[in-house]
Amino acid sequence: MQKRSDFLVIGSGITGLIFALKVADKGKVNLISKTTLPESNTRYAQGGIAAVMYPPDSIEKHVKDTLDCGRGLCNESIVRLIIGESPDRIRDLINLGTQFDTDHDGKYNLGREGGHSEYRVLHHKDNTGQEIIRALEKKVREHPNIEIFENHFAIEIITQHHLGHVVTKHFPGIKCYGTYVLNPATGKVETFLAKKILMATGGAGMIYNNTTNPIIATGDGVAMVHRARGIVENMEFVQFHPTSLYNLNQRPSFLITEAIRGFGAVLKTLDGKEFMHKYDPRKSLAPRDVVARAIDQEMKISGDDHVCLDCTQLNSDELINKFPTIFEKCLSLGIDIRKDMIPVVPSAHYICGGIKTDAFGKSSIINLYAAGECASTGMHGANRMASNSLLEALVMANRAAESAVQEFNKTEIYENVPDWNAEGTVLNEEMILIIQSLREVQSIMSNYVGIVRSNLRLKRAFNRLNLIFRETEELYIKSILSPRLCELRNIISVAYLVIKHAMKRTNSIGLHYSLDYSDSKIEDL
Ligand code: FAD
Ligand code: SIN
Repeated sequence: MQKRSDFLVIGSGITGLIFALKVADKGKVNLISKTTLPESNTRYAQGGIAAVMYPPDSIEKHVKDTLDCGRGLCNESIVRLIIGESPDRIRDLINLGTQFDTDHDGKYNLGREGGHSEYRVLHHKDNTGQEIIRALEKKVREHPNIEIFENHFAIEIITQHHLGHVVTKHFPGIKCYGTYVLNPATGKVETFLAKKILMATGGAGMIYNNTTNPIIATGDGVAMVHRARGIVENMEFVQFHPTSLYNLNQRPSFLITEAIRGFGAVLKTLDGKEFMHKYDPRKSLAPRDVVARAIDQEMKISGDDHVCLDCTQLNSDELINKFPTIFEKCLSLGIDIRKDMIPVVPSAHYICGGIKTDAFGKSSIINLYAAGECASTGMHGANRMASNSLLEALVMANRAAESAVQEFNKTEIYENVPDWNAEGTVLNEEMILIIQSLREVQSIMSNYVGIVRSNLRLKRAFNRLNLIFRETEELYIKSILSPRLCELRNIISVAYLVIKHAMKRTNSIGLHYSLDYSDSKIEDL
């Protein structure tokens, strides 16, 4: 049976939930999420959400810091628009029930992270994402117009391709009618049709061996839009978070928030020596591209497989009060952060590029919006500033919702969409092939397309990936679908886009650092 709604939302992080709540008073919303509703990158956000709250901060300062971090590749008008709307959207989030930490005088307690010239990060202890999702999940579950489909996996967006047309990227007016969705409980692929569709599928950290992202972050939305011939941009800018907890037994990696450096923690080598002064006058609070590369370099110099974060000089009571999750996590591993340095290592964290959108979240495909981490608005340029992503997701979900509400009544649901054709597929019992291919892709990306790249490494990665791509397509065509197989396919597509966009660059900038085009001192050391 085909399911119809005015709005279809794919993804239940901050982006999907805000959009759903903003459109739900105007029409019926179907919201699909591939596991349980709260599971998302949003849920694990620690540091918080950047916004201009009080003097001496100003819109102008926040804009300048963002543009500096983006290394000249941000779209300045988008940066101004998103930061300009930040106070209003934060108020919305608070009105929806989110609680941010306050000081004794009732003012919000603001944290500071890399690249920020002022204290401007609203937070809830060190588990801000969990608090945002708690508040939004409650409202979404209460709303009578929102129907939630958990454990439903979007496989492909439906376009003219599924009506028998040959859709290339030059096809005039590619349109989205809805999505095909796998319900693993029944093994059936269901057809979801809608007037306006939002892609809110988040990040793709799983293309690497080490990532702070949960296992749902497989870049599904970017891959679906790429396959549908929509425009995807800036994928070479993959951000590595400098400080994930060094723990070989845990994947995904546990994050040690940058806010702890904002509070005074200092990066050191294993023998207790500071090193960031060699790379940037802002030392441990330099932007992330600089800090991650510096750590990578220090590890190469020393041969150690991690560096350390030293909190031992900080006020212990305040430290535990502000960062209770990190304190507990480290203690469970025998690390008392009041006395011991924390072993840390960079991990893949955030994809700055994605589905290209305009200032209203419209993608290049008619009726399809995209927002949040799967989208590319131009906000982040070549390097996202810390805690700007939740802000971008919040503002753009709201803008997309306003646009979709204005336009959905001018769109008809397309009635003649065929159901998914599973003819000729057989049960796939080759899980070992899927797991092995996934490990191969992750290892290719980590070894050749990580923090430091080169033309030779990229070419090698491209050739290796090509083989896995062909094998996986063969498997896909003949298999009854499973989420794992679809995710592998998406991971390969996203890895391909990262490599392809990186190969096109003839300079080192921000998060794309190539030994072939480097003028910094990093590789000289
Ligand atoms: P997500 O929150 O990732 O949600 C994506 C949703 O899409 C999920 O519900 C997922 O299940 C669903 N989905 C995906 N594919 C499919 C599919 N095929 N079918 C159906 N559903 C699908 N940013 C900040 O600004 N401040 C921070 O402090 C911060 N801390 C972070 C800490 C960690 C550990 C991580 C991983 C990220 C952090 N970030 C932070 C980044 C930020 O959390 C994300 O960029 C942001 O939450 C993305 O929100 P989103 O709604 O776009 O995607
Ligand atoms: C962190 O808390 O360090 C993560 C912040 C971010 O990724 O924006």
